[in-house]
Amino acid sequence: MASNFNPYPNPSPIPPTPHHPKPQTHFSQSPQTLSADPNPDPKLVITGGAKLSGHVSISGSKNSALPILAATLCCTGTSKLKNVPNLSDTRTMTSVLGSLGAEIEFSDNEVVVKTDGVGSVEPDPTRIGKFRGGFFVVGPLLARFGEAVVGLPGGCDIGARPVDIYVSGLRALGAVVEVRDNKVVAKTANGKRLAGGRFRLDYPSVGATETLMMAACLAEGKTLLSNVAREPEIIDLARFLTKTGAHMEGVGTDKICIYVKSRLLGAEYGIMPDRIETGSFMLAAAITRSRISLSPVFPGWLSSLIDKLVGAGCKITHKHNMLEVSSSTEDLRGFDVGTLPYPGFPTDLQPQTMAFLSTCNDLSIVDESVFENRMTHVKELQKLGAKIQVFGSTALIYGKEKGNKLCGTRVLASDLRGGMSIVLAGLAAEGVTEVNGVSHIDRGYENLENKLRLLGADVKRFEFSKSNLQQ
Ligand code: EPU
Repeated sequence: MASNFNPYPNPSPIPPTPHHPKPQTHFSQSPQTLSADPNPDPKLVITGGAKLSGHVSISGSKNSALPILAATLCCTGTSKLKNVPNLSDTRTMTSVLGSLGAEIEFSDNEVVVKTDGVGSVEPDPTRIGKFRGGFFVVGPLLARFGEAVVGLPGGCDIGARPVDIYVSGLRALGAVVEVRDNKVVAKTANGKRLAGGRFRLDYPSVGATETLMMAACLAEGKTLLSNVAREPEIIDLARFLTKTGAHMEGVGTDKICIYVKSRLLGAEYGIMPDRIETGSFMLAAAITRSRISLSPVFPGWLSSLIDKLVGAGCKITHKHNMLEVSSSTEDLRGFDVGTLPYPGFPTDLQPQTMAFLSTCNDLSIVDESVFENRMTHVKELQKLGAKIQVFGSTALIYGKEKGNKLCGTRVLASDLRGGMSIVLAGLAAEGVTEVNGVSHIDRGYENLENKLRLLGADVKRFEFSKSNLQQ
């Protein structure tokens, strides 16, 4: 444990961090805080300023693993998924499958799912309410069992996250769907199989595309989905489904045609690397003006970020599935960026990019168009000294203008990617940053502090247990 850090936070208000904040060098303690909160969140304590170097191994993709775990419900027999990141979200997803009667073994990064014992079409709503991915099971359950009763999903607090596109799409495939008592209750019209059909999504929603692909795989007729999402995770799901015997065309374009299959059989499949984790570590190198390599990476998935970082003055090279990011100068240029569905700039990298832009020269503008409320990290970045103004879904980031700089203080992660943005800011800040609310970050980054430490960052995790505190 760091000698100058006391893990019991003082409940007094966070010191104001106006224009030129004083870097925090330690935090004083009040042990009573621990007993006041029976289940305190872990925290990360980061001493900023270290240069990063070395290599980071990228984990399997959370947003690919979640729908693929759901897709195992489309299959009879056993599926073996490899490279599954061990995260709270993937563990919750396996518990959702378990609540339906599936047999699950999750060890290291391998998940074996046996679905022959599935006897329920209503997953535990308390688990579904924890995250967005749990809702994906509505498609497979309806397709295979003709019925699904699934609670409305939870997830990061980044704006309204309706399920209207899912519902209209399932209706287009012949299901009778009602939303009542916070649940979606869906049945096939004839009590047997979905019918297949044509459906144009109003917006290329990732989750709705995935759910409808899974539902359509076992429908009686051919299905044509248009204006679908084109994210790499959609392609990964299609690859898994194809291995189980499904037949589809057009995946990766804005139209997918899914052909009739009466049965899918569990398969072995390796989950793709996490492109958002990759982008986050690229930004960690950029914000600390360091040089690191990352693998396995498919640079084409991140070309929107790579173009921006190169424009800012970073050097990025790649060989096979390895990427190297370096920025040898302090003086990087800011840029303007707007989030869009793939292949546009990913909303899941917007908060981390904003942290980076607050260390660049010039004024930068960030426009968030995918989620209506993905700006909660701004308040925390401001506490760290970033000069940012928000107008609706647009943020102006003033960068290093007039000597603005990041200085460590106590901050709170209130969602996954926003949490990562303050971790990145903490790496670059002067002094000590204490990041609270780390359970949000744990939903999406496997072994985060170990990976950062291997790169040379000074990051410590503090876990609270009932009787004591362990690092
Ligand atoms: N939308 C609707 N109606 C719907 C579905 C979506 O209006 O029926 C709207 C949403 O409200 C949102 C927009 O469409 O404004 C995009 O939502 P989308 O459905 O594409 O997102 P998602 O499937 O809920 C997945 C990822 C998110 C990622 C988005 C966009 C998973 C489990 N989640 O969410 O990941 O931001 O796609 O790329 O795959 C994260 O990992 O931090 C995360 C939030």
